[in-house]
Amino acid sequence: MQKDFLESSESIFLNDAALDYNFIPGILLHREGQQAYIGNSIKLLEQGRNGRNLFIFGAPGIGKTLATKYVLKQVENNSDEIMPIYVNCWKHDTSYKILLEICNLIDYKFIQYKATDQLMKDVKLLLNKKSIVLCLDEIDKLQDFSILYYFLEDIFKRSLIFITNDKGWINNIDARLNSRLYADKLEFKPYNYDETLDILKQRLEYAFVKNVFEKGCLELIAKKTFELNDVRAGIFLLKEAGDITEARASKKITMDDVEKAVSRLQEFKIKQDSELNNEQNEILELVKKHSGKQIKDIFNHYKKGVSYRTFRRRLEELRDAKLITLEEKSLGDRGKVAYAYFGLNKKLVEF
Ligand SMILES: Nc1ncnc2c1ncn2[C@@H]1O[C@H](COP(=O)(O)OP(=O)(O)OP(=O)(O)O)[C@@H](O)[C@H]1O
Ligand SMILES: [Mg+2]
Repeated sequence: MQKDFLESSESIFLNDAALDYNFIPGILLHREGQQAYIGNSIKLLEQGRNGRNLFIFGAPGIGKTLATKYVLKQVENNSDEIMPIYVNCWKHDTSYKILLEICNLIDYKFIQYKATDQLMKDVKLLLNKKSIVLCLDEIDKLQDFSILYYFLEDIFKRSLIFITNDKGWINNIDARLNSRLYADKLEFKPYNYDETLDILKQRLEYAFVKNVFEKGCLELIAKKTFELNDVRAGIFLLKEAGDITEARASKKITMDDVEKAVSRLQEFKIKQDSELNNEQNEILELVKKHSGKQIKDIFNHYKKGVSYRTFRRRLEELRDAKLITLEEKSLGDRGKVAYAYFGLNKKLVEF
Protein backbone atom coordinates (compact mmCIF):
# COMPACT_ATOMS: atom_id res chain seq x y z
CA MET A 1 0.00 0.00 0.00
CA GLN A 2 1.25 3.47 -0.80
CA LYS A 3 1.92 5.74 2.16
CA ASP A 4 0.46 9.24 2.24
CA PHE A 5 3.04 10.65 4.58
CA LEU A 6 6.47 11.81 3.62
CA GLU A 7 9.63 10.11 4.91
CA SER A 8 12.26 12.58 6.09
CA SER A 9 14.43 11.66 3.10
CA GLU A 10 11.61 12.33 0.60
CA SER A 11 10.38 15.54 -0.95
CA ILE A 12 7.43 16.56 -3.06
CA PHE A 13 9.76 19.01 -4.81
CA LEU A 14 11.51 17.64 -7.86
CA ASN A 15 13.49 20.80 -8.56
CA ASP A 16 12.72 23.79 -6.38
CA ALA A 17 15.11 25.98 -8.40
CA ALA A 18 12.28 26.08 -10.95
CA LEU A 19 10.34 28.19 -8.45
CA ASP A 20 13.05 30.83 -8.37
CA TYR A 21 11.80 34.06 -9.96
CA ASN A 22 14.88 34.14 -12.20
CA PHE A 23 14.43 30.61 -13.53
CA ILE A 24 14.25 30.52 -17.32
CA PRO A 25 12.01 27.70 -18.62
CA GLY A 26 13.03 25.70 -21.68
CA ILE A 27 9.99 26.84 -23.62
CA LEU A 28 8.53 30.29 -23.27
CA LEU A 29 4.75 30.10 -23.36
CA HIS A 30 2.38 32.77 -24.67
CA ARG A 31 4.94 35.39 -25.57
CA GLU A 32 5.64 34.22 -29.11
CA GLY A 33 4.63 37.53 -30.70
CA GLN A 34 6.72 39.62 -28.34
CA GLN A 35 9.66 37.26 -28.71
CA ALA A 36 9.54 37.65 -32.49
CA TYR A 37 9.26 41.42 -32.19
CA ILE A 38 12.33 41.65 -29.94
CA GLY A 39 14.18 39.29 -32.28
CA ASN A 40 13.38 41.50 -35.24
CA SER A 41 14.84 44.56 -33.55
CA ILE A 42 18.11 42.72 -33.27
CA LYS A 43 17.99 41.07 -36.68
CA LEU A 44 19.68 43.89 -38.58
CA LEU A 45 22.76 43.34 -36.45
CA GLU A 46 23.03 39.85 -37.89
CA GLN A 47 23.35 41.45 -41.30
CA GLY A 48 26.18 43.63 -40.01
CA ARG A 49 23.97 46.71 -39.90
CA ASN A 50 22.91 48.93 -37.06
CA GLY A 51 20.00 47.47 -35.05
CA ARG A 52 16.76 49.09 -33.98
CA ASN A 53 16.01 50.39 -30.50
CA LEU A 54 13.08 49.10 -28.55
CA PHE A 55 11.00 50.43 -25.67
CA ILE A 56 9.15 47.67 -23.82
CA PHE A 57 6.47 48.51 -21.27
CA GLY A 58 3.70 46.82 -19.29
CA ALA A 59 2.50 45.90 -15.79
CA PRO A 60 4.70 44.03 -13.27
CA GLY A 61 5.10 40.25 -13.39
CA ILE A 62 3.90 39.56 -16.93
CA GLY A 63 7.05 38.29 -18.59
CA LYS A 64 8.81 41.40 -19.93
CA THR A 65 12.15 40.55 -18.37
CA LEU A 66 11.77 36.84 -19.02
CA ALA A 67 10.87 37.22 -22.71
CA THR A 68 13.74 39.63 -23.29
CA LYS A 69 16.28 37.47 -21.46
CA TYR A 70 15.02 34.49 -23.42
CA VAL A 71 15.75 36.22 -26.72
CA LEU A 72 19.13 37.45 -25.48
CA LYS A 73 20.04 33.91 -24.53
CA GLN A 74 19.14 32.65 -27.99
CA VAL A 75 21.29 35.39 -29.52
CA GLU A 76 24.16 34.43 -27.27
CA ASN A 77 23.87 30.78 -28.25
CA ASN A 78 23.52 31.42 -31.98
CA SER A 79 25.95 34.20 -32.76
CA ASP A 80 29.59 34.98 -32.05
CA GLU A 81 29.25 38.39 -33.65
CA ILE A 82 26.51 39.77 -31.41
CA MET A 83 27.11 40.34 -27.72
CA PRO A 84 24.01 40.71 -25.56
CA ILE A 85 24.43 42.71 -22.36
CA TYR A 86 21.68 42.81 -19.74
CA VAL A 87 21.78 45.31 -16.87
CA ASN A 88 19.09 46.01 -14.29
CA CYS A 89 18.99 49.74 -13.53
CA TRP A 90 17.39 49.10 -10.17
CA LYS A 91 20.68 47.56 -9.09
CA HIS A 92 22.90 49.79 -11.23
CA ASP A 93 21.20 53.15 -11.32
CA THR A 94 23.84 55.51 -12.73
CA SER A 95 25.83 55.53 -15.98
CA TYR A 96 29.00 54.91 -13.97
CA LYS A 97 27.53 51.87 -12.20
CA ILE A 98 26.22 50.49 -15.48
CA LEU A 99 29.66 50.82 -17.02
CA LEU A 100 31.20 49.04 -14.05
CA GLU A 101 28.68 46.24 -14.52
CA ILE A 102 29.48 46.06 -18.23
CA CYS A 103 33.19 45.81 -17.36
CA ASN A 104 32.33 43.04 -14.96
CA LEU A 105 30.30 41.18 -17.61
CA ILE A 106 33.00 41.45 -20.27
CA ASP A 107 35.66 40.67 -17.70
CA TYR A 108 37.54 43.96 -18.11
CA LYS A 109 39.61 44.48 -14.98
CA PHE A 110 41.42 47.80 -15.45
CA ILE A 111 38.78 49.95 -13.85
CA GLN A 112 40.50 51.41 -10.82
CA TYR A 113 40.59 55.19 -10.44
CA LYS A 114 38.79 55.65 -13.75
CA ALA A 115 35.96 58.12 -14.13
CA THR A 116 32.91 57.47 -16.29
CA ASP A 117 34.43 59.11 -19.41
CA GLN A 118 37.61 57.10 -19.27
CA LEU A 119 35.78 53.85 -18.60
CA MET A 120 33.59 54.45 -21.62
CA LYS A 121 36.66 55.10 -23.79
CA ASP A 122 38.12 51.76 -22.72
CA VAL A 123 34.88 49.87 -23.03
CA LYS A 124 34.03 51.21 -26.47
CA LEU A 125 37.24 49.81 -27.97
CA LEU A 126 36.25 46.39 -26.73
CA LEU A 127 32.56 46.59 -27.58
CA ASN A 128 33.08 47.90 -31.10
CA LYS A 129 34.75 44.63 -32.03
CA LYS A 130 31.24 43.16 -32.10
CA SER A 131 27.61 44.18 -32.43
CA ILE A 132 26.02 44.95 -29.10
CA VAL A 133 22.53 44.46 -27.72
CA LEU A 134 22.32 46.50 -24.54
CA CYS A 135 19.21 45.79 -22.50
CA LEU A 136 18.54 48.22 -19.66
CA ASP A 137 15.79 46.76 -17.52
CA GLU A 138 13.81 48.98 -15.11
CA ILE A 139 15.12 51.95 -17.09
CA ASP A 140 12.94 54.36 -15.09
CA LYS A 141 15.37 53.90 -12.17
CA LEU A 142 18.29 55.29 -14.21
CA GLN A 143 19.38 58.59 -12.69
CA ASP A 144 21.52 60.10 -15.47
CA PHE A 145 21.43 59.51 -19.17
CA SER A 146 25.05 59.87 -20.31
CA ILE A 147 25.29 56.12 -20.87
CA LEU A 148 22.59 56.45 -23.54
CA TYR A 149 24.41 59.25 -25.33
CA TYR A 150 27.66 57.26 -25.16
CA PHE A 151 26.05 54.25 -26.75
CA LEU A 152 24.32 56.28 -29.44
CA GLU A 153 27.52 58.10 -30.35
CA ASP A 154 30.35 55.68 -29.71
CA ILE A 155 29.01 52.20 -30.32
CA PHE A 156 28.55 51.67 -34.02
CA LYS A 157 26.45 48.56 -34.28
CA ARG A 158 23.94 48.26 -31.48
CA SER A 159 20.38 47.74 -30.42
CA LEU A 160 19.22 49.37 -27.23
CA ILE A 161 16.34 47.70 -25.41
CA PHE A 162 14.65 49.45 -22.52
CA ILE A 163 12.12 47.82 -20.19
CA THR A 164 9.85 49.52 -17.67
CA ASN A 165 6.42 49.56 -16.03
CA ASP A 166 6.25 53.26 -16.79
CA LYS A 167 4.66 53.70 -20.19
CA GLY A 168 5.31 57.46 -20.13
CA TRP A 169 9.03 57.23 -19.40
CA ILE A 170 10.20 57.63 -22.98
CA ASN A 171 8.06 60.68 -23.59
CA ASN A 172 9.39 62.38 -20.48
CA ILE A 173 13.04 62.19 -21.44
CA ASP A 174 14.78 64.98 -23.31
CA ALA A 175 13.10 65.41 -26.71
CA ARG A 176 16.45 65.32 -28.51
CA LEU A 177 17.42 62.06 -26.88
CA ASN A 178 13.98 60.63 -27.61
CA SER A 179 14.22 61.47 -31.30
CA ARG A 180 17.76 60.12 -31.55
CA LEU A 181 16.69 56.86 -30.00
CA TYR A 182 13.77 56.57 -32.38
CA ALA A 183 12.66 53.50 -30.43
CA ASP A 184 9.92 51.11 -31.51
CA LYS A 185 7.37 50.51 -28.78
CA LEU A 186 6.25 47.12 -27.58
CA GLU A 187 3.49 46.74 -25.02
CA PHE A 188 3.12 43.61 -22.92
CA LYS A 189 -0.49 42.96 -21.94
CA PRO A 190 -1.41 40.80 -18.92
CA TYR A 191 -2.04 37.10 -19.49
CA ASN A 192 -5.63 35.87 -19.56
CA TYR A 193 -6.78 33.11 -17.20
CA ASP A 194 -6.01 30.21 -19.58
CA GLU A 195 -2.53 31.53 -20.33
CA THR A 196 -1.88 32.01 -16.59
CA LEU A 197 -3.00 28.44 -15.97
CA ASP A 198 -0.71 27.10 -18.71
CA ILE A 199 2.31 28.98 -17.41
CA LEU A 200 1.78 27.81 -13.83
CA LYS A 201 1.19 24.25 -15.00
CA GLN A 202 4.52 24.36 -16.80
CA ARG A 203 6.26 25.62 -13.62
CA LEU A 204 4.55 22.99 -11.55
CA GLU A 205 5.78 20.23 -13.85
CA TYR A 206 9.35 21.49 -13.59
CA ALA A 207 9.21 21.94 -9.84
CA PHE A 208 7.15 19.10 -8.35
CA VAL A 209 7.02 15.32 -8.35
CA LYS A 210 4.11 14.09 -10.51
CA ASN A 211 0.56 14.07 -9.14
CA VAL A 212 1.19 15.81 -5.83
CA PHE A 213 -1.50 18.45 -6.36
CA GLU A 214 -5.06 17.42 -5.57
CA LYS A 215 -7.77 18.28 -8.06
CA GLY A 216 -8.65 21.97 -8.22
CA CYS A 217 -5.49 23.26 -6.50
CA LEU A 218 -3.76 24.48 -9.61
CA GLU A 219 -6.95 26.13 -10.84
CA LEU A 220 -7.32 27.97 -7.54
CA ILE A 221 -3.72 29.19 -7.71
CA ALA A 222 -4.23 30.27 -11.32
CA LYS A 223 -7.40 32.14 -10.36
CA LYS A 224 -5.68 34.11 -7.60
CA THR A 225 -2.72 34.80 -9.87
CA PHE A 226 -4.98 36.00 -12.64
CA GLU A 227 -6.80 38.30 -10.21
CA LEU A 228 -3.48 39.80 -9.13
CA ASN A 229 -2.26 39.93 -12.73
CA ASP A 230 1.20 38.88 -11.69
CA VAL A 231 2.81 35.51 -12.41
CA ARG A 232 5.17 36.02 -9.47
CA ALA A 233 2.18 35.69 -7.15
CA GLY A 234 1.45 32.27 -8.69
CA ILE A 235 5.03 31.09 -8.29
CA PHE A 236 4.91 32.26 -4.67
CA LEU A 237 1.70 30.28 -4.12
CA LEU A 238 3.13 27.10 -5.66
CA LYS A 239 6.14 27.32 -3.40
CA GLU A 240 4.20 28.19 -0.25
CA ALA A 241 1.65 25.43 -0.84
CA GLY A 242 4.52 22.95 -1.27
CA ASP A 243 6.23 24.12 1.92
CA ILE A 244 2.99 23.95 3.91
CA THR A 245 2.38 20.40 2.69
CA GLU A 246 5.91 19.29 3.52
CA ALA A 247 5.66 20.87 6.95
CA ARG A 248 2.84 18.47 7.75
CA ALA A 249 4.82 15.63 6.19
CA SER A 250 2.23 14.88 3.55
CA LYS A 251 2.66 13.79 -0.04
CA LYS A 252 -0.47 15.53 -1.30
CA ILE A 253 -1.03 19.24 -1.69
CA THR A 254 -4.67 19.84 -0.76
CA MET A 255 -7.07 22.74 -1.28
CA ASP A 256 -6.58 23.51 2.39
CA ASP A 257 -2.82 23.93 1.87
CA VAL A 258 -3.45 26.23 -1.05
CA GLU A 259 -5.94 28.30 0.98
CA LYS A 260 -3.28 28.68 3.66
CA ALA A 261 -0.74 29.76 1.04
CA VAL A 262 -3.23 32.32 -0.26
CA SER A 263 -3.58 33.76 3.25
CA ARG A 264 0.18 34.33 3.23
CA LEU A 265 0.03 36.48 0.13
CA GLN A 266 0.13 39.43 2.50
CA GLU A 267 3.79 38.67 3.15
CA PHE A 268 4.42 38.09 -0.49
CA LYS A 269 7.27 40.18 -1.73
CA ILE A 270 6.83 40.52 -5.43
CA LYS A 271 10.33 41.79 -5.93
CA GLN A 272 13.03 39.83 -4.21
CA ASP A 273 14.93 41.73 -1.55
CA SER A 274 18.12 41.26 -3.49
CA GLU A 275 16.69 43.41 -6.24
CA LEU A 276 16.52 46.35 -3.87
CA ASN A 277 19.46 48.63 -3.27
CA ASN A 278 20.66 49.34 0.28
CA GLU A 279 18.70 52.52 0.72
CA GLN A 280 15.47 50.89 -0.45
CA ASN A 281 16.09 47.93 1.83
CA GLU A 282 16.70 50.17 4.85
CA ILE A 283 13.56 52.13 4.16
CA LEU A 284 11.57 48.93 3.67
CA GLU A 285 12.77 47.67 7.07
CA LEU A 286 11.78 50.98 8.62
CA VAL A 287 8.26 50.79 7.16
CA LYS A 288 8.00 47.23 8.44
CA LYS A 289 8.86 48.42 11.94
CA HIS A 290 6.56 51.45 11.83
CA SER A 291 3.81 50.08 9.61
CA GLY A 292 0.62 52.17 9.74
CA LYS A 293 2.31 55.34 10.98
CA GLN A 294 2.38 58.70 9.24
CA ILE A 295 5.07 59.00 6.61
CA LYS A 296 6.53 62.11 8.16
CA ASP A 297 6.98 60.27 11.48
CA ILE A 298 8.63 57.35 9.71
CA PHE A 299 10.89 59.83 7.95
CA ASN A 300 11.94 61.24 11.34
CA HIS A 301 13.26 57.81 12.24
CA TYR A 302 15.39 57.73 9.10
CA LYS A 303 18.58 59.46 10.08
CA LYS A 304 20.41 59.21 6.79
CA GLY A 305 20.48 62.85 5.64
CA VAL A 306 18.23 62.43 2.60
CA SER A 307 15.58 65.02 1.86
CA TYR A 308 11.92 64.34 2.57
CA ARG A 309 11.30 64.39 -1.19
CA THR A 310 13.88 61.70 -1.84
CA PHE A 311 12.41 59.66 1.01
CA ARG A 312 8.95 59.95 -0.57
CA ARG A 313 10.36 58.88 -3.92
CA ARG A 314 11.90 55.77 -2.36
CA LEU A 315 8.55 54.96 -0.77
CA GLU A 316 6.88 55.29 -4.15
CA GLU A 317 9.41 52.88 -5.66
CA LEU A 318 8.67 50.36 -2.89
CA ARG A 319 4.96 50.84 -3.50
CA ASP A 320 5.45 50.25 -7.23
CA ALA A 321 7.26 47.04 -6.33
CA LYS A 322 4.18 46.09 -4.29
CA LEU A 323 6.18 45.84 -1.09
CA ILE A 324 4.36 48.56 0.80
CA THR A 325 1.07 50.44 0.59
CA LEU A 326 0.72 54.21 0.78
CA GLU A 327 -2.49 55.88 1.82
CA GLU A 328 -3.57 59.50 1.99
CA LYS A 329 -6.34 60.83 4.20
CA SER A 330 -7.86 64.24 3.76
CA LEU A 331 -8.12 66.52 6.79
CA GLY A 332 -10.46 68.91 4.99
CA ASP A 333 -9.10 72.47 5.22
CA ARG A 334 -6.06 71.28 7.08
CA GLY A 335 -4.60 69.41 4.10
CA LYS A 336 -3.74 65.73 3.95
CA VAL A 337 -1.85 63.13 5.94
CA ALA A 338 -0.07 60.22 4.37
CA TYR A 339 0.51 56.79 5.90
CA ALA A 340 2.71 53.87 4.92
CA TYR A 341 1.95 50.20 5.54
CA PHE A 342 4.18 47.19 5.16
CA GLY A 343 2.88 44.67 2.60
CA LEU A 344 0.24 44.75 -0.05
CA ASN A 345 -2.99 46.65 0.20
CA LYS A 346 -5.46 44.51 2.13
CA LYS A 347 -8.04 44.89 -0.57
CA LEU A 348 -5.72 43.24 -3.04
CA VAL A 349 -5.22 40.09 -1.05
CA GLU A 350 -8.57 39.59 0.62
CA PHE A 351 -10.29 38.27 -2.45
N1 LIG B 1 5.32 33.15 -20.24
C1 LIG B 1 5.89 32.78 -19.11
N2 LIG B 1 6.33 31.52 -18.94
C2 LIG B 1 6.92 31.15 -17.80
N3 LIG B 1 7.15 31.96 -16.75
C3 LIG B 1 6.72 33.24 -16.87
C4 LIG B 1 6.08 33.71 -18.04
N4 LIG B 1 5.79 35.02 -17.87
C5 LIG B 1 6.24 35.35 -16.65
N5 LIG B 1 6.80 34.29 -16.04
C6 LIG B 1 7.44 34.26 -14.72
O1 LIG B 1 6.82 35.23 -13.90
C7 LIG B 1 7.78 35.97 -13.17
C8 LIG B 1 7.66 37.42 -13.55
O2 LIG B 1 8.05 37.61 -14.91
P1 LIG B 1 9.06 38.77 -15.33
O3 LIG B 1 10.16 38.85 -14.32
O4 LIG B 1 9.45 38.60 -16.73
O5 LIG B 1 8.07 40.01 -15.14
P2 LIG B 1 8.22 41.51 -15.64
O6 LIG B 1 7.12 41.75 -16.63
O7 LIG B 1 9.61 41.78 -16.05
O8 LIG B 1 7.84 42.27 -14.28
P3 LIG B 1 8.46 43.61 -13.64
O9 LIG B 1 7.92 44.73 -14.44
O10 LIG B 1 7.94 43.62 -12.23
O11 LIG B 1 9.95 43.50 -13.70
C9 LIG B 1 9.13 35.39 -13.49
O12 LIG B 1 9.50 34.48 -12.49
C10 LIG B 1 8.91 34.68 -14.80
O13 LIG B 1 9.75 33.56 -14.93
MG1 LIG C 1 11.15 42.74 -15.02
